[in-house]
Amino acid sequence: MSMIRSVVRGVGAYLPAHTLTNADLAQMVDTSDDWIVQRTGIRERHIAAEGEVTSDLALNAARAALADAGLEPGDIDLIVLATSTPDNTFPATAVSVQAGLGITHGAAFDVQAVCSGFVFALATADNFLKSGSFKRALVIGAETFSRILDWSDRTTCVLFGDGAGALVLEAVPATGAADEPGIMTTHLRSDGRHKNKLYVDGGVSSTKTTGFLRMEGREVFRYAVGMITDVIEDAFAATGVTAQSLDWFVPHQANRRIIDASANKLGIAAEKVVVTVDHHGNTSAASIPLALASAHADGRIKRGDIVLLEAMGGGFTWGSALIRW
Ligand code: ACO
Repeated sequence: MSMIRSVVRGVGAYLPAHTLTNADLAQMVDTSDDWIVQRTGIRERHIAAEGEVTSDLALNAARAALADAGLEPGDIDLIVLATSTPDNTFPATAVSVQAGLGITHGAAFDVQAVCSGFVFALATADNFLKSGSFKRALVIGAETFSRILDWSDRTTCVLFGDGAGALVLEAVPATGAADEPGIMTTHLRSDGRHKNKLYVDGGVSSTKTTGFLRMEGREVFRYAVGMITDVIEDAFAATGVTAQSLDWFVPHQANRRIIDASANKLGIAAEKVVVTVDHHGNTSAASIPLALASAHADGRIKRGDIVLLEAMGGGFTWGSALIRW
């Protein structure tokens, strides 16, 4: 039977130049480096410059991913961009990236699933490639969360940062053999009963303002590990991959304690876990491709490796993906 697999061709990332350290934050709100490091593992985060918007970050990451893939913008016919901090209410931030790359064919659109956005965008692109609708996709996670933070609220402003990451996927004929490269499985979940635990208190249709991020941190923490591990167990059941047989675990980078607790519950060895949250905080939809780019650039993730992605965020939304690199 003829099949198509979505194969990773390239990875790229971009972080804004300005770094905000925990010591800088301690000058702004009643907090300390010790408190932030102990509770979250975060040491610094990057903040977009005045006038630097989400599509600028995304465009830089997309160009880096194309260079890594050895491809030209014209080779791309699908852009799926995950963000909760778009440049404008509309058009989609993805079309600004498309225009910035000089692409005039194919399709470009945004998806919104907050911190799970990258996994949702990846699953969307994978299904379009597998169906034969498109040939090569840029899957981007890009955020400027600094613009929706209440910088006087120490319970949230210390947690987040700005950044972007991108993957190039290519539709490749496959036979279904277990060792073929490509996305092996994706699993997406949502449960809107939890929508008030992590949300932005403004919006186009409600307040006509942008609003600020609000979160019941302990409640999010309470659900996170269970939801993450459930959807990873779904991925294991669908593929036969196990905590022992996978090579790399690249989780959403929200909080070191959530990452460690999830890996521990699943029996994934600490040396297989990619952690970058210390350098960029929680960049929402950008965090997984930022972590992937880091582990790809330093040679940890190699061709043939099995890579497990996972995210959980506002909604709640959560999801997993298994990729043979
Ligand atoms: N600096 C110093 N003290 C602080 C700070 C701060 N930045 N923020 C809160 N505190 C204080 C609180 O006021 C409280 O003080 P009190 O005891 O006098 O009332 C004390 O620290 C403990 O507060 P808690 O909220 O109970 O602290 P907790 O140990 O739960 O840690 C945290 C808070 C880090 C937010 C944690 O709940 C968490 O990680 N939650 C998950 C949230 C998350 O990661 N969200 C990201 C988005 S969702 C996602 O991406 C999965």
